[in-house]
Amino acid sequence: MPRAVRGMRDLPPSEVACWRKLEQILHEELGGYGYEELRLPLLEHAELFERSIGAVTDIVSKETYTFLDRGGARLTLRPEGTAGCLRAVLARQLLRGGPRRFWYLGPMFRHERPQKGRYRQFHQLGVEAYGWDGPDLDAELLLLCARLWRVLNIENVELQINSLGGESARRGYRAALHGYFEAHLERLNEEQRRCLRENPLRLLDSKAAVLRDLLREAPSILDYLEPEATAHFQGLQELLAATGLSWRVNPRLVRGLDYYGGTVFEWVASGLKASQDAFCAGGRYDGLSGALGGPPLPAAGFAVGLERLMALLPEASGTAWAASRPHVYLAHTERRAALCLAEWLRDQVPSLRLCTHCGTDRLRRQLRLADRSGAALALILGEQELAEEQVIWKSLIEDTPQEKCPRTLLPERLRRLVAQADVPGACQRSSGQEAH
Ligand code: HAM
Repeated sequence: MPRAVRGMRDLPPSEVACWRKLEQILHEELGGYGYEELRLPLLEHAELFERSIGAVTDIVSKETYTFLDRGGARLTLRPEGTAGCLRAVLARQLLRGGPRRFWYLGPMFRHERPQKGRYRQFHQLGVEAYGWDGPDLDAELLLLCARLWRVLNIENVELQINSLGGESARRGYRAALHGYFEAHLERLNEEQRRCLRENPLRLLDSKAAVLRDLLREAPSILDYLEPEATAHFQGLQELLAATGLSWRVNPRLVRGLDYYGGTVFEWVASGLKASQDAFCAGGRYDGLSGALGGPPLPAAGFAVGLERLMALLPEASGTAWAASRPHVYLAHTERRAALCLAEWLRDQVPSLRLCTHCGTDRLRRQLRLADRSGAALALILGEQELAEEQVIWKSLIEDTPQEKCPRTLLPERLRRLVAQADVPGACQRSSGQEAH
């Protein structure tokens, strides 16, 4: 039997139903803040990610799926969406009319070690805003996040924020960190020493016990911020306080992508394992447009890992968002008449979900399949019913005797059944078809 590629999952219909519902909620909430959807390609030139995320980051140096296509172009399956989004916005001149907000949603690819909540193909909702340089935009992004968690009933999350300052702050801080770790070189392994040489900020990300001890005494980036960066960071915190959001300043928060400068943040959940506790992350990247050859452009955004977000949803949402079962299973011995009846009913009854039995099974087996489909009702069309212009109406939920229903009355009765079945919270039958 062919197997799926490691770290890449299929979604069975029961999960797809939850994803659709989640996507619909996200879509609505984003509209409430003026965000517009962009659809972006999965493949980009490898160079785009080397110039944006950074060639010596873990993501680009160890985790990308990069290959030569048949024409010799070096391409990468996108590991994230920020770079591709900005590329598209610049190439299409989407900011000609002024600042604008965008969102995108889709699969991303990173060759990481798969485990629960960490996949090689995973999904992100990405949100990016271009053209605003003040802390009000940063605050609005965080308020949008908080609203999403609230609407989804997600609790026990913590917002951590930090500022990486401008180029000169990071230069000064890198030098200070370098000096600090040089004095403890004997405690670092080969990989950590390489990090120290290439980009000492990466050491702050490390989960290694030795580093965690050392980091307690390490210098803080907040002591190296330029006055404007400090003012921006303070401005953000004043706005957060005014809007009632809670946060914690984490001066060790640096993020694994090189394009950030100024505000960075992560939302962490107590429900997720420590190695994957951030389910949403982002920040400012005002320098990225220039680095890609575009004009100076203030920019900020975030991405939510949808698999991780799903894992945080309360049980109740999963049940309420269960897959939509058919309302009706049409069993029959009259193939041609059944297909015609089914088409007529779909025309007559909006939103009707009707499965017509296919094949020439005996009625007993058809009714067993009807039961398994999760439908609320079986309609049975036999030779006699066809002649009488009637159908047998057999509830699969209630223990009531089956009855005959004239064909002309069917649409009205079905309309009522659909209206009752689709009331939020209405009891849905589960089908035994899916192995979870
Ligand atoms: P990131 O922190 O690399 O940032 O990823 C954002 C989120 O994607 C993470 O918090 C996590 O929920 C999810 N994620 C990342 N890797 C995996 C994985 N292997 N399996 C499952 N989920 C994963 C970015 O990608 C930036 N582009 C965010 C951003 C947008 N910054 C500004 N705008």
